[in-house]
Amino acid sequence: MKILSTGSAVPERIVVNQELSEFLDTSDQWIRERTGIEQRRIHEGNLEILAARAAQNALEAGGVSADQLDLILCSNVHSRYLTPSMSSVVQGLIGASCPCLDINGACAGFVYALEIAAAHVHSGRYRRVLVLCAEEPTRMVDWHDRSTCVLFGDAAAAAVVIPDGEMPLFKMGTVSNGQAIYAYHGPGNCPYEKSDRRETPLVMKGQEVYKFAVQSSQEDIQYLCRQAGIGLEQVDFFLLHQANARIVEAVRSHLRQPPEKFPSNIRLYGNTSSAGLPLLLDEVNRQGKLQPGAVLVLSAFGAGLTTGACLMKW
Ligand code: ACO
Repeated sequence: MKILSTGSAVPERIVVNQELSEFLDTSDQWIRERTGIEQRRIHEGNLEILAARAAQNALEAGGVSADQLDLILCSNVHSRYLTPSMSSVVQGLIGASCPCLDINGACAGFVYALEIAAAHVHSGRYRRVLVLCAEEPTRMVDWHDRSTCVLFGDAAAAAVVIPDGEMPLFKMGTVSNGQAIYAYHGPGNCPYEKSDRRETPLVMKGQEVYKFAVQSSQEDIQYLCRQAGIGLEQVDFFLLHQANARIVEAVRSHLRQPPEKFPSNIRLYGNTSSAGLPLLLDEVNRQGKLQPGAVLVLSAFGAGLTTGACLMKW
């Protein structure tokens, strides 16, 4: 499996920390020091438009036309649609005609989708798979809750996957925990509803998730390097889910690797859920930092609690 090309799209609207402190009991200093975030992008329209831009961007970069796609896999937690899937909506917008499937792997969704894409191209079933992540966590949080809303931003990013090169190594995991990060749908008006269920914005036990993320990410990275029979020093870049700069720093320091191997853009975008990893990958790729044969390790973690890590040669 090979990632032929990458693409991304972020909303135009930039919201800096200072703006949040105008209506929340927070400060630029607290957000920077505790998270590394300085600003985030918040989309003002419909997510599918952003998603289609990211998809087109990746297709253009790879010289692939939409009608050549065999499958669109989209990682999405929240959009204005409960149904149809985001991938189906985007398929129409970009003019593709292939099968479409959405997955919800929260912040680890890109690695989950990549693993499914890898299995499909490896089996020979599909030759061109678009892996798309489109996320709007800003529509899930309670904007009165300073412990969550300051963390998130919106984005979409994509990768075109083709059969070529070596099969990456994957390490996927889920440790069921419905209390550490969750959001509930409302009950609708079903007359048979007997529970006290009601719509609940995103709730997160920040410190619990923090500890889980640091532990699982460093373990997954070490596991993959052992499986590949390489030392950590042979990895060119570690791309971690951009949830908190302190999480990335804790993993980096535990692994004793230099900061230049851990690219980061959380400062500019905040936590964009599953879109964060492909957004960072696209940035590094477009900066020309990924030489053919470069060894990359991706690692992500999120609600579920899900984890996904991947070791690949570029
Ligand atoms: N501004 C000012 N003060 C704040 C803010 C804020 N925005 N948010 C919280 N505080 C306060 C708290 O109320 C608390 O005050 P207290 O000591 O008087 O009680 C104090 O700051 C410290 O709060 P903590 O929660 O202990 O802060 P912490 O250093 O743990 O940082 C954070 C919180 C950023 C959420 C961190 O725990 C974290 O990054 N967790 C991991 C999040 C993550 O990885 N999510 C990924 C998955 S997300 C997904 O899947 C959708």
